Amino acid sequence: MINMSELHERGWLTVDDISSKEDLLELGRAIGTPVLTPNGEYVKEIRRFSAEQAPPESQSSIYGTGRFPLHNDTVFWATPVKYVLLRGYGDTRRPTTVMTFENLFRQCDDHFMSLFRKSIWRVRTGKSQFYCSPILNNDESRGWRLDVDLMHPANASAKQIAPKLRELVNRSDTNNLIWNDSTAAVILNWTTLHGRGTQPKDEGERVIERLYAR
Ligand SMILES: [Fe+2]
Repeated sequence: MINMSELHERGWLTVDDISSKEDLLELGRAIGTPVLTPNGEYVKEIRRFSAEQAPPESQSSIYGTGRFPLHNDTVFWATPVKYVLLRGYGDTRRPTTVMTFENLFRQCDDHFMSLFRKSIWRVRTGKSQFYCSPILNNDESRGWRLDVDLMHPANASAKQIAPKLRELVNRSDTNNLIWNDSTAAVILNWTTLHGRGTQPKDEGERVIERLYAR
């Protein structure tokens, strides 16, 4: 169903013939262990919100119906989720954007990368907060955590690179995932960022189904 070595090499890939929530869940089970949402479901439906209607601290509360910068999901978890699976339908003119960290940092020099490695960030999670490095590393995998809206600079290195990072995650030379009713994307959340493209004129209902797996 999916070539895992290709996924790990590229950071993300698309899979055909995924036409329902059930198909997405089956794909998630083929890759890893699906994670339940706080509502007790595996697949969460994400719809567009205006800034006024959006849940507090969500991306929609900041960007409204506009474009979302590149980010990783669940940076506020001690260990961010490994796989993000997405499927889109409805008005599919607006793409989901993706870019690997390798590409994001392609033009960055050693000095910037050393500051990034030394940087410490404060992440708020509801009522509590914790401090973290952007480096993710365990026995099997390594990668990064980055969400410029949820991670606040907490040491001198982070403060120095924060403006440049915000510029980088707003780059427009992303890969664009164009949805149809039967395509899903699997994104390696530790090595690859995703975002939301610009809103087309008179956008109709656009639904993204999302499943996390570890
Ligand atoms: Fe996201």
